[in-house]
Amino acid sequence: MANAIIVGMQWGDEGKGKIVDLICPAFDGVVRYQGGHNAGHTVRFADRHFSLHLIPSGILHPGMRCVLGNGMVVAPGAFFTELGRLEEAGVDPAGRLFVSNRAHALLPWHAELDQAREGARGPRAIGTTARGIGPAYEAKASRHGLRLGDLASDDLEALLAAQLERVRTELAGLGAPEPTPLAEVAGLCREWAERMAPFLTDTEVLLFEYLEEGRSLLFEGAQGALLDLDHGTYPYVTSSSSTAGGACTGSGVPPTAIDGAIGVLKAYTTRVGAGPFPTELHDATGEYLRKRGNEFGTTTGRPRRCGWLDTVVARHARRLNGTGALALTKLDVLDELDEVRVCTAYELDGREVAAPPADLAALERARPVYRTLPGWKRDTSGVLEFEALPAAARDYVAFIEEEVGCRVDLISTGPRREETQVRGGGLLEELLGERFAGVLEERG
Ligand code: IMP
Repeated sequence: MANAIIVGMQWGDEGKGKIVDLICPAFDGVVRYQGGHNAGHTVRFADRHFSLHLIPSGILHPGMRCVLGNGMVVAPGAFFTELGRLEEAGVDPAGRLFVSNRAHALLPWHAELDQAREGARGPRAIGTTARGIGPAYEAKASRHGLRLGDLASDDLEALLAAQLERVRTELAGLGAPEPTPLAEVAGLCREWAERMAPFLTDTEVLLFEYLEEGRSLLFEGAQGALLDLDHGTYPYVTSSSSTAGGACTGSGVPPTAIDGAIGVLKAYTTRVGAGPFPTELHDATGEYLRKRGNEFGTTTGRPRRCGWLDTVVARHARRLNGTGALALTKLDVLDELDEVRVCTAYELDGREVAAPPADLAALERARPVYRTLPGWKRDTSGVLEFEALPAAARDYVAFIEEEVGCRVDLISTGPRREETQVRGGGLLEELLGERFAGVLEERG
């Protein structure tokens, strides 16, 4: 059985949750490997809608094993809130939800720092989700972090005190209120330690055993390639490795165990938070995309910035992730447009460039070079056969395949599972093997 990684090809919110939900029954387990409760997707289950931020949506599939890997930062309070909602909806996670004891605990101080720093940056604010993700990773990298396995440590107070000292100094320097007192945080940690205990384990050992038993794993990336700490639009990025490489360091599964990566690409581009976005639209088309695509953040409710598809970005993501198949999402959102544009290169200081420059100021100056294609002006929602799509929509898909250099194996034309084209003969079918037919059946 194959092991695959699902990654976002843009700035997040590409619709990874839906694709994971669709194909995960073909795997034995789903693994999150980076990020925290900054991520999010809405899940429809038993006539209810709720948002998942930490726990993979695979948990909704009976018997599916779900792992929160060591590369994540986990806010235990947020974890228990999600767990509570799942249990209310009749989902039983007992014995199949595991959390790495090496993942770092996101503490109330991290959110306090995140908010104070963003305030202090003023017009240069990153537009974070304010959840404390950056400060939690920073504590990890500076070796002052508290791992989930440390929550039950006899030295808890000393571990926390070492962190608090730095937090207090920084908050005072920023003119922010005093941090949550140590005793209060320590009390929370003790409570969390007890409730977390049944889920905590050496997940890298567990995953190794799954692989030895011939089980297959789906690694679910959060955010997108352009928000990757190393490869994204730094410093307007998140603080983890959201590209495919992160799946290995963030789970402890070796690169040799990975068989392929599927990239989720939205048919246009969105971004939340600040930072360069060459194809952003500030006009009626941008507003149309936001409304028709319901482009408002699942985690923060913020309106997303919208623009045309950018294949400079998508090619960058394909190179970084080794993407062998694309899932193209929200194609139907473009249905009403007279014409659609695709950015194929940037013009930068009189030259044409095919890859995003590392220099942020240069990326800000870059002007998109567009190819304009005719719109199809027909409803594509729920169209299940590629051949049944209007010719202009097929041409749009073919153009993307050519520009990005990757086959489109899935096309999503609506929020529901049934509204997805599943195309055989590509990497997706190869990865899913005999379970490919099952995915088609489940799709309905
Ligand atoms: P942080 O991850 O909260 O530190 O935010 C850093 C940047 O990543 C900001 O621009 C956020 O809007 C963005 N971001 C974080 N998580 C997501 C996500 O799940 N989807 C889209 N953008 C995200």
